Amino acid sequence: MLKKWIATDGERMIPAVIRNYTKRDFHGLIEVQAASFPPPFPPELWWNEEQLNEHVTRFPEGALCVEMDGRIVGSMTALRRTLRDDEPHDWATVTDEGYIRNHEPDGDTLYVVDICVTPEYRRFGLGKWLMQSMYETVVYLGCRRLLGGGRMPGYRNYADRWTPEEYVERVAKGEIKDPVLTFLLRCGRTPIGVARDYLEDEESCNNAALMEWRNPFWDDMRTKG
Ligand SMILES: CC(C)(COP(=O)(O)OP(=O)(O)OC[C@H]1O[C@@H](n2cnc3c(N)ncnc32)[C@H](O)[C@@H]1OP(=O)(O)O)[C@@H](O)C(=O)NCCC(=O)NCCS
Repeated sequence: MLKKWIATDGERMIPAVIRNYTKRDFHGLIEVQAASFPPPFPPELWWNEEQLNEHVTRFPEGALCVEMDGRIVGSMTALRRTLRDDEPHDWATVTDEGYIRNHEPDGDTLYVVDICVTPEYRRFGLGKWLMQSMYETVVYLGCRRLLGGGRMPGYRNYADRWTPEEYVERVAKGEIKDPVLTFLLRCGRTPIGVARDYLEDEESCNNAALMEWRNPFWDDMRTKG
């Protein structure tokens, strides 16, 4: 994948590139993780070189980064799995703790391991471009859907009032905004449930909203065999 365009936050216009990441990018990718997932997020969950090596070796199509101003400012990583629609799961089990050694080359679901954009480059549409590029990968590879557990960092402020399900419903209705869930909804992802104890994530009270995007060509692809 190689995409070049001019990204804007409404004030500045800056050339941007999306491409598959490689070994040369590991240092930059780890810096983006550190900037994107500050405390209370556990630093042990930032990428390490061994994980990144597995991504670029096992499933390079699922390893995307975005560059601006000559440096890496965001990334998105996925693996392929076959999961039942109602299969309960957590991040560590489904992604092999981010090492993706359980990647199934013919898995029907493109499962998102991680997406992040470094804070100074947010609201340029980069996250959405990364997501759109992963949707294209779903279609290109003939997968049924994209799925992932979305963080819900605003939930901590409402946990004494609402269940995680109620919180997701209110964000989905637009009553309140969440820094990650609102982003995922704006990218066209649909909530299909909540996974408890998904990941150590204090702000989300360890919950994640399972958010799906179905391949719109799927029925047509199946009919044509
Ligand atoms: C979530 C994240 C990737 C969004 O990246 P981004 O590049 O700033 O997002 P974009 O500029 O592409 O925004 C796309 C849409 O989401 C909306 N959005 C983005 N951040 C938002 C926020 N904090 N609150 C409300 N809406 C938001 C934008 O307004 C935009 O909507 P539009 O299409 O209607 O204009 C980024 O904030 C991030 O890295 N967060 C920390 C890491 C993280 O928690 N990742 C999620 C793991 S599940």
